[in-house]
Amino acid sequence: MPGESVRPLFPFFSEGPGGSYLDSAATTQKPKVVLDELLRVLVHHNANVHRGAYRLSAEASELYDQARMKVAKMIGAPSERSIVFVRGATEAINLVAYGSEQLFNPGDTILLTLLEHHSNIVPWQLLAKRRGLKIAFADITDDGRLDMDDFREKLTSLKPKLVAVTQLANSLGTVTPIAEIVSLAQQAGAQVLVDGAQGVTHLGVDVQALGCDYYVFSGHKMYGPTGIGVLYGRPERLEALQPFQGGGDMISYVSVEGSGWAEVPQRFEAGTPAFPEAIALGAAVDFLSRFERSEIILHESSLVAEACELLRGEQGVVLHGPASRGEKQLAVVSFSIDSVHPHDFATIADTHNIQVRAGNHCAMPTLRRLGVQATVRLSFGLYSCRQDLVAVREAIREARQLFGR
Ligand SMILES: Cc1ncc(COP(=O)(O)O)c(C=O)c1O
Repeated sequence: MPGESVRPLFPFFSEGPGGSYLDSAATTQKPKVVLDELLRVLVHHNANVHRGAYRLSAEASELYDQARMKVAKMIGAPSERSIVFVRGATEAINLVAYGSEQLFNPGDTILLTLLEHHSNIVPWQLLAKRRGLKIAFADITDDGRLDMDDFREKLTSLKPKLVAVTQLANSLGTVTPIAEIVSLAQQAGAQVLVDGAQGVTHLGVDVQALGCDYYVFSGHKMYGPTGIGVLYGRPERLEALQPFQGGGDMISYVSVEGSGWAEVPQRFEAGTPAFPEAIALGAAVDFLSRFERSEIILHESSLVAEACELLRGEQGVVLHGPASRGEKQLAVVSFSIDSVHPHDFATIADTHNIQVRAGNHCAMPTLRRLGVQATVRLSFGLYSCRQDLVAVREAIREARQLFGR
């Protein structure tokens, strides 16, 4: 069961700083099995993949390919050929934004939402600049839920060519009705990219059942290493994308006159890939599969409910996000404290070995829409537990006293 009992699986708590780490939306701590796998590959299988004719390279290549299969299975992809290894969610979105440039005509619209992380906004803005496109944002409600009436209206009136939406907002913990969004957008003729950077860890996904065109996520937010992430694309979508970067490993031939591309997904993996990290991501996939998806969701939604209950009882605390009005919210709790700036609170909390995030959480449009510049954010992982929340409550009391309330 997730909670305190899984802490022994994470050396962070026994050999590292431990404490109340409440910034898992930024990056998760790593279980020992993932750390061990990373070291094992570097010690025992360290040779460049898809190159050497010698055994060591063949072994590394085999492990790299197995990791791709594990990822494909985890997200319900039809085949490992739909899985492109990238550096993270940000690179995956940039890859699609660059690779699909030729599919857009000046004047076309891309529809986003006001819940998006900057990495699901800025690559589209860059694309819009290059190709003369328009960007529109579906509105959110005052408690941070996606305004589906506005989304439907914009789909109908703007006829976007592409819709890019988060499955779970990192700023507020909002769960979007992603199946409905994908279905409505595709009925309206749009391709859909789902930002699963949070969703893959906290909700899980079956990309074929969902039917999205693209799904992106980062390894380091799902108990895997940094520097590795995934772009899933439907086979016909990946075939239609232009390569984003050129170099070794992504070609079928190179001549002085020009070059031909390798098959998908190698076409999008120029240069030496982060193969030890990819293989360790495979270990993270195995690790996550030890838990029932329903257990993870129950654990992380219960923590949201407990946090909201504790914080509601505290003077001067204002909750932001759907749970503030009793609506569904997962893995994240965002709040403000009167008279205490979020950064000051984060500094005070840190003196008690509590790590919380303070700021705009790379979601400036979301916070602006809610009329705040910064919030304190608690974000949970498998190892988070009630004692972390109690520690936060004590730190709030101390901060309010220090700031004269
Ligand atoms: C919802 C969401 N999308 C995208 C990203 C970007 O992920 P990365 O920085 O790993 O590329 C994040 C990171 O916080 C996120 O929470």
